[in-house]
Amino acid sequence: MKEKKMNRQKTNSWNAEKYRKHAGFVSDLASPVVELLNPKEGEKILDLGCGDGILGLEIAKYKAEVIGIDLSENMVAKARENGLNARVMSVTDMPFNQEFDAVFSNAMLHWVNEPKLAVENIAKVLKVGGRFIAEFGGYGNISSIIKAMREVFKRHPEYGEIDDFWYFPTTDEYKSILEEYGFEVRYIELIPRPTPIDDIANWLILFTNGFTKHLSDSKQKQFRDEVRELLKETNYSPKDGWVADYVRIRVEAYKEC
Ligand code: BEZ
Repeated sequence: MKEKKMNRQKTNSWNAEKYRKHAGFVSDLASPVVELLNPKEGEKILDLGCGDGILGLEIAKYKAEVIGIDLSENMVAKARENGLNARVMSVTDMPFNQEFDAVFSNAMLHWVNEPKLAVENIAKVLKVGGRFIAEFGGYGNISSIIKAMREVFKRHPEYGEIDDFWYFPTTDEYKSILEEYGFEVRYIELIPRPTPIDDIANWLILFTNGFTKHLSDSKQKQFRDEVRELLKETNYSPKDGWVADYVRIRVEAYKEC
């Protein structure tokens, strides 16, 4: 889950119930990346950004030992309640050493604004020959939503600056980081995946709090209402409802040495 700016912060807060209600599609749409992981009996697998543990438990069904980490105490509590061995921890500061057969991550690494430190840590916790299988937001992800957010901030100078967005790399950029830290990249691809969501207002409440938490409640609502109004043009139709313009980056890489 949300890791951005987290070297300064030890934990973060997500509401596990609201997340499942309005963003359940995040784990529901993850079967291709679980298939790419191809978990095997007896493997030790680390799930980065395990959230409420739903995917980690799916992986554990293959009789793998799964440990989940997440920065959100609330999410980790939910994951444990659901039966996953989960801990509150950051991907940029993990105490493990060469002990995992695989590191898996879905929809989390775009929150980490120190991608090199994250990849360095992932390399450290993997056994030699171990694999890193991940999917997260890639280059161009939610560009219409970001454009609308920028536009509304520009309209309201009293909101302050908005410039610290998520990390959505190109394949070349991420491949070169992985290679720098000793990975052989066997597969990396950008995958446009327009994603139906219930209402952009709920998406904004869940995912943009980091940009607006310095604003009063009424200004936060104004921000969401105005972003929603702009996005009606591009991301809403009576036939399809709300659709977020997601682009995923999917990765399969092996630790070489
Ligand atoms: C994503 O899954 O791509 C994403 C979700 C929330 C905010 C930014 C990106």
